[in-house]
Amino acid sequence: MDESVFVHSHGLCESEDVGPRTRVWAFAHVMKGARIGADCNVGGHAFVEAGAVVGDRVTIKNAVQIWDKVVVEDDVFLGPNMIFTNDMNPRAAFKKDPSGFLPTTVRQGASIGANATIVCGTVIGRNAFVGAGAVVVRSVRDHAIVVGSPAREIGWMCACGGRLDDALACPDCDRRYALADEGLRLLEG
Ligand SMILES: CC(C)(COP(=O)(O)OP(=O)(O)OC[C@H]1O[C@@H](n2cnc3c(N)ncnc32)[C@H](O)[C@@H]1OP(=O)(O)O)[C@@H](O)C(=O)NCCC(=O)NCCS
Ligand SMILES: [Zn+2]
Repeated sequence: MDESVFVHSHGLCESEDVGPRTRVWAFAHVMKGARIGADCNVGGHAFVEAGAVVGDRVTIKNAVQIWDKVVVEDDVFLGPNMIFTNDMNPRAAFKKDPSGFLPTTVRQGASIGANATIVCGTVIGRNAFVGAGAVVVRSVRDHAIVVGSPAREIGWMCACGGRLDDALACPDCDRRYALADEGLRLLEG
């Protein structure tokens, strides 16, 4: 593992696949086999399971658990206590082969608010925003803001975090967008 990786004296990092400058804080646990990129922050009490894949510059706030079959792309923000799932209908007495678990992907730049729940088999689109406490049961489009249970779209968010106006322009920066198949796409220039 790169010597710039920081693991707190009370953190447990069993994986050797952790990128430069990533920090693993007290009481966080990264299992052997888990992949975490560069410049990530793994907050206290977070848990990253063996089959999880995390990109670069990802913020994993305290107590977030990232299970097998979850892929988190670059520049994603995972708010405190948000939770993933990977088994749609678990039963303690009827063990399921892990191949029956469903994948979840969080695309580049997305944010997930505190205490949100992501039901498995979904994709959180690029730069999408999941509000605090939302329960996501279907995929979220690029740049969409979703809130509530079940989570529903209430608007669009810029890559910078500003809420877009009706013309799909950001009041906080120069970016403008247009509707596309998967949600919004950035207009160049
Ligand atoms: C989703 C979010 C970005 C919306 O912020 P906003 O654009 O300022 O939206 P508003 O506060 O104007 O709310 C718009 C509407 O959505 C509702 N709403 C906003 N956030 C909501 C949420 N998390 N759950 C349910 N409803 C929500 C509001 O009640 C309001 O409804 P109304 O029009 O019926 O009154 C914000 O509320 C949020 O949840 N941020 C996440 C914070 C967080 O978890 N941070 C983690 C790191 S500390
Ligand atoms: Zn913006």
